[in-house]
Amino acid sequence: MNWRHLFSRRSARLTGELRARIRASFDRAAGDEVHFPATIDPRIYHVKLIRRHLGELTGRRVLDVGCGKGRFARVLHDQEPAAEICGLDLSLEMLRFAPAGVCVCAGSMTELPFSDAAFDAAYATESLEHAVEIDKAVSEICRVVKPGGRIVIIDKNARASGRLQTPEWERWFTRRELEGLLRRHCRHVESRDISYWEDVPPDGLFLAWLAVK
Ligand SMILES: C[S@@+](CC[C@H](N)C(=O)[O-])C[C@H]1O[C@@H](n2cnc3c(N)ncnc32)[C@H](O)[C@@H]1O
Repeated sequence: MNWRHLFSRRSARLTGELRARIRASFDRAAGDEVHFPATIDPRIYHVKLIRRHLGELTGRRVLDVGCGKGRFARVLHDQEPAAEICGLDLSLEMLRFAPAGVCVCAGSMTELPFSDAAFDAAYATESLEHAVEIDKAVSEICRVVKPGGRIVIIDKNARASGRLQTPEWERWFTRRELEGLLRRHCRHVESRDISYWEDVPPDGLFLAWLAVK
């Protein structure tokens, strides 16, 4: 059965059944190291952008939202051992790959199991696009970050839709759409096109949103 038409609406719901299906899909994907690698080249622009926007991390607590195998958290932990990096993901099988030294937590970004302002900063790379209830997830990410804390979201551009095969629940965003959701909670929001390498012009697939709560 093709479920895709059910997800075109902004009102799509992350029901228990859908959440279980997404989790099972990523549990299976955890065994696919080619498409879901546990490591990442620390020189890529995604990493640099997160580091630059988050700033000094010594003694800070940072949440990786939808961390998967923790490839970004691994780099941050290696580069900033005095920061406390926590990864949250729906898939326990993904979390099994998380590096030692990074604290992990299973759960949904639409209902983060943390108190308000528990983190100094948060980032989400290619995970918000799977949250289904996007405004709820954005609101949760912002809730758990302290006032003045920084947030980075990296995801794919709705204008590039169709370029890759995606599961039916996956949603890509326009710059304006996510800027609008972040502005409900953050005092500064900007976005830009990015590519994997700083000196390679963006090809329109990836966008980054940078916010200050
Ligand atoms: C494409 S992977 C990206 C993982 C990681 N951020 C990275 O860049 O390597 C998407 C991740 O989002 C997780 N995910 C999907 N829906 C989620 C939700 N509602 N809450 C938390 N994590 C979720 C999946 O389990 C998967 O690990």
